Parts: sequence; C-alpha cells; structure tokens
Amino acid sequence: MIKVVICGASGRMGQTIGRMVNESRDLELVGGIDLKPGSFFGAGIVDSKDADALLKKTKADVLIDFTVANAVVENVKMAARNNVALIVGTTGVTSDQRREMETAIQGRVPAVISSNFSVGVNIFWQLLRNAGRLLRDYDIEVIEAHHRNKKDAPSGTAKTILQILDEEAGARQKMYGREGMTERKNEIGVHVIRGGDIVGDHKVLFSKNFETIEISHRAYDRSVFASGALLATRWVAGKEPGIYSMSDVLGLEKK
Ligand SMILES: NC(=O)c1ccc[n+]([C@@H]2O[C@H](COP(=O)([O-])OP(=O)(O)OC[C@H]3O[C@@H](n4cnc5c(N)ncnc54)[C@H](O)[C@@H]3O)[C@@H](O)[C@H]2O)c1
Repeated sequence: MIKVVICGASGRMGQTIGRMVNESRDLELVGGIDLKPGSFFGAGIVDSKDADALLKKTKADVLIDFTVANAVVENVKMAARNNVALIVGTTGVTSDQRREMETAIQGRVPAVISSNFSVGVNIFWQLLRNAGRLLRDYDIEVIEAHHRNKKDAPSGTAKTILQILDEEAGARQKMYGREGMTERKNEIGVHVIRGGDIVGDHKVLFSKNFETIEISHRAYDRSVFASGALLATRWVAGKEPGIYSMSDVLGLEKK
C-alpha cells in the first residue's frame, strides 16, 4: 500500500482526491492537512502547523498538494525534508516560487508537477504542439473559463497552453482582454471567464481568412484531475529524485 497525505484536504480538489484514494485498493489515506483540523473519509485532518509531525508519524510515501500558491512552497520544502515524494497540482505560482520548489526537490525526492493532471488535457496539449507548429501564420486566441471561486487567472493550464504556443508557433506578445481602439497585430489574445461552478474549459482558436480551427477541452467533473493525480501517485512512489511531468507518467512525447 502507498501511504498518502493530502495537503488542502478540506478544499474542492482535496475532498475529491481524498474520496478516490479512500476507494482505491492500493492507496491508503493516512491523513490530511489544511488550515483547520477535522476529518475526511476516515482519516484525520491536522492544522498546517502540525504537518511536519503528521508526515513523520504516518511515514507517508506521497504528499499530494492542491492548496494555494503562497502555501505550496513551504509544503514542498517540508515533504522534501521528510523524504516524501510529491504530487503538486497547485497553480498560480510565480517563477521565483517555482525555482524555490525545484531547488528543494532536486536530489532529494521524486515529484510530479503539473498545472493539469487530467489525461485528456495532457493529450490536448500534445495536439496543440502539432497545431502550433502547422498553424504558425494563423491568428491565435486562448479562452478559458472556471468557477467563480478560482483564485488565479489566467489558469495554470492556460499558462501551459501559452508556453506550448511560444515553443511551437514562435514567441508572441500576449494581450489579456481587449478594450477600446485595438488593432490586431501578431499577439495572442487571452480571455478569462469566471462564473458559477464551471469546472474548467480551455479553447484555442487558430483563425485565418475564411476559416477557424478550434481545439478545446472541457472538464465536467473534478474527478478527471483527481484520477490523473492518482495515476501520478502510483507512478512516482519509488522513482529517482527529480522533477517529472504528466507526459512522463503517461509516456507521452514532450515534443
Ligand atoms: N493541476 C490540476 O490538475 C488542478 C486541477 C484543479 C485545481 N488545481 C489547483 O489546485 C489548487 C486548489 O484548488 P481547489 O479548487 O481545490 O481550491 P480550494 O480553495 O477549494 O482548496 C484549497 C485548500 O487549501 C487549503 N489551504 C490553504 N493554505 C493551506 C496551507 N498552508 N496548508 C494546508 N492547506 C491550505 C485551503 O484552506 C483550502 O481548503 C488551486 O491552485 C487550483 O488552481 C489544479
């Protein structure tokens, strides 16, 4: 059995992952961490100040973090200190925070970091690589939609989309929304929608005179992210220290 602790246990993703870990035969939910103590699916949730002690007491194999950008760096450092493998789904981190996490992880523990753990989104990214390469001279627009409580914008998934487009279609300016007299140049327009309980929609438009190609992904339920995170949990346990992506987990080519 792989012993799992979930950080952000009381949150939307923490609850979904907790339920799925609890239902699986090969993973054991040994605890949760959040800002207030409590319980979920038969396991205890401790206050984040007691997180280090929980990792030691439970002898956790994997820490899964779906929290907030200003908490994830400390959580990653704590897991690395305790030789606990990591699954990091938290988005909205700055490049400095990302570097700090990488420094803590390298040479110590294996970690899968992804802005989106859905298998479908990882395949969508792969399709986008081809499209970006083939449609370099098209106008490109990125549109994403999420629920009203999402804290960061654009989404981590949209940022990964922009990174892939930069790599495959050539780096372009980004224009975050348009207002007033705007003349379209070679920029990529980025548009963010927030409302209701939308789980996560991403669409990329490639437009030229008389035609548009759209590539899109829609998540109907958080369980798509959770089941990918569980795949990654099974994969990461026992791997060599280093930073891995979902492409590694799924055996997809990066390019
Ligand atoms: N990578 C993916 O596939 C994926 C999918 C969905 C969401 N996300 C990201 O995961 C994160 C969480 O999303 P959510 O919808 O579950 O948010 P949420 O607000 O519902 O849950 C976050 C939880 O983290 C807790 N938290 C805050 N600081 C903490 C700390 N220091 N220690 C422990 N817990 C702490 C909060 O109290 C809350 O319960 C966001 O960054 C979101 O963008 C990633």
